[in-house]
Amino acid sequence: MALTSELGKQIKLKEVEGTLLQLATVDNWSQIQSFEAKPDDLLICTYPKAGTTWIQEIVDMIEHNGDVEKCQRAIIQQRHPFIEWARPPQPSARNAKDCMVSYYHFQRMNHKLPDPGTWEEYFETFINGKVVWGSWFDHVKGWWEMKDRYQILFLFYEDIKRDPKHEIQKVMKFMGKNLDETVLDKIVQETSFEKMKENPMTNRSTVSKSIMDQSISPFMRKGTVGDWKNHFTVAQNERFDEIYRKKMEGTSINFCMEL
Ligand code: A3P
Repeated sequence: MALTSELGKQIKLKEVEGTLLQLATVDNWSQIQSFEAKPDDLLICTYPKAGTTWIQEIVDMIEHNGDVEKCQRAIIQQRHPFIEWARPPQPSARNAKDCMVSYYHFQRMNHKLPDPGTWEEYFETFINGKVVWGSWFDHVKGWWEMKDRYQILFLFYEDIKRDPKHEIQKVMKFMGKNLDETVLDKIVQETSFEKMKENPMTNRSTVSKSIMDQSISPFMRKGTVGDWKNHFTVAQNERFDEIYRKKMEGTSINFCMEL
């Protein structure tokens, strides 16, 4: 499948087992499927735009006992390479509406992803799960159903936003670490949106403009809860809530859609 935008951005994607993937990932698919984690591997399993970079930085800071210099050793994509990385899984979820908004702006600025089209078009694309890396609903529901069967720590973007110290403590315990209060406070400070937006090791400023054009939309865009209210029409919101109820039926997961 090739999607071309009006801007001439042609991106080749392939559907693998119902999920749209970039060609580079398709080539690695069998390797990814046969991946076996070692008992002390740690996997961060986020839906795109759910705060992947945020939790990656938190984990790295905990791992290095809050040592800022050590966490400056490389850009985040190298410190936490995608998929071939590894400890038990740690999914991080973010409410679907804010994910949709964040993903829309990300596709506008990321030249390796299809052009999102208009907001109205993207709304349809997203609710139908026709975005790269698949449906938000499948991802979140899938991990939620697995969470009690395996050693999984399920985190919510909105909780980290509300009480970062409390959530960072959870991650720390899950990682078997015991850091003192001063270190924890430092991690909270260093992983704030404001700090990460200015940090070249996390803000993707080292990525070429031909791949990510941050003048269109910055990678560290807003970092807030509820930006969907600035994008969704009343009708879209009603339709979305209806779809959400159907798709997430049977799960006790409650994303407080009125956030
Ligand atoms: P917005 O586009 O809503 O601002 P990912 O890393 O999975 O691509 O997710 C990116 C989203 O997480 C962006 O959301 C980004 O601003 C937000 N984000 C990154 N670091 C953050 C932080 N320290 N605090 C809050 N939000 C953060």
